[in-house]
Amino acid sequence: MAGMTLPPSITLVEVGPRDGLQNEPTPVPVEAKVAFIEALMDAGLREIEVTSFVSPKWVPQLADAGDVFARLKPRPGITWSALVPNLRGMERALACGVRKVAVFTGATETFCRKNINMSFAESLDAFRPVVAEARKNGIAVRGYLSTAFGCPYEGAVDPARAAEAAHRLADLGCDELSIGDTIGVAAPTGVEALLSRLAFPRPATALHFHDTRGTAAANAVQAATMGFARFDASAGGAGGCPYAPGAAGNVATEDLVYLFETMGVRTGVDLSKLAAASEALFGILGRTPPGKAQRAAMAAARKP
Ligand code: HMG
Ligand code: MG
Repeated sequence: MAGMTLPPSITLVEVGPRDGLQNEPTPVPVEAKVAFIEALMDAGLREIEVTSFVSPKWVPQLADAGDVFARLKPRPGITWSALVPNLRGMERALACGVRKVAVFTGATETFCRKNINMSFAESLDAFRPVVAEARKNGIAVRGYLSTAFGCPYEGAVDPARAAEAAHRLADLGCDELSIGDTIGVAAPTGVEALLSRLAFPRPATALHFHDTRGTAAANAVQAATMGFARFDASAGGAGGCPYAPGAAGNVATEDLVYLFETMGVRTGVDLSKLAAASEALFGILGRTPPGKAQRAAMAAARKP
């Protein structure tokens, strides 16, 4: 890969407390969630998706969103965000003093219906007042486009269709987009095909790769060579969407830290501190983190 051009640094948006936990059947106590988020900040992560203000009937694990926010102690230079699907969620987020929210829809109709019980067009209608409320309160808005590469119900997604959906979402007034490979089916050629069609500013576009089939790291490198420098990731590789059958976790944050730092791209994250934070969380979940760099870091730390 001689001549590969990469950005000097990337920003990792840690989505573990939200995407990582939303599908976990083991209830994680509020104190453990707060300790996890504090450990992530100690490891150098500056943007953290803390939780979701969604219906507790749809995502019981995050029913404690308000309590988690209430216990977090503000730190300078940190952005905490939360998902909101509607005005009700926005009101809850505002009551907690949240400064960044994320609305979320999908490139395919069936996924939208299963995930938020709305069509794509209905989701945009639901988000319009949310974005207006955010504007009024000086709150930043991320717009997630799920199933941008493939859908568990509709199969492969045409990149032109995904780009069109992303532009309609952006037109609501989103400050940032996050383009999601919800079920981890994309490969670098497909990433190139969609990202080359996107008209939204690259510095404000994040890529959200799930690692179901082991392609997430390759996809992140492809995006980075195109000048994209914001990546969502989940500590230890936790996660999956409850409304996307078979979806595994996000790409592990440790895997991206290792990969990019080894290529000379700064992440600002301390890999061993992050690996320890994941270890503690997965101890509560009662299983081994799927992230490979996390496991290697812990094995190295345990070496006599
Ligand atoms: P619904 O059932 O169609 O609507 O849900 P509803 O208005 O009838 O609400 C149902 C109940 O929830 C009602 O309570 C509402 O009051 C309440 P009841 O009257 O039955 O007692 N409710 C709420 N409660 C708290 N906060 C709220 C709220 N809204 C309604 N904000 C709804 C529609 C959108 C609410 C529901 O479908 C929902 O919450 N969906 C969220 C699903 C979700 O969180 N999915 C995972 C996140 S997306 C993802 O993982 C993908 C991503 O990672 C990117 C990628 O990987 O591609 C982002
Ligand atoms: Mg996701």
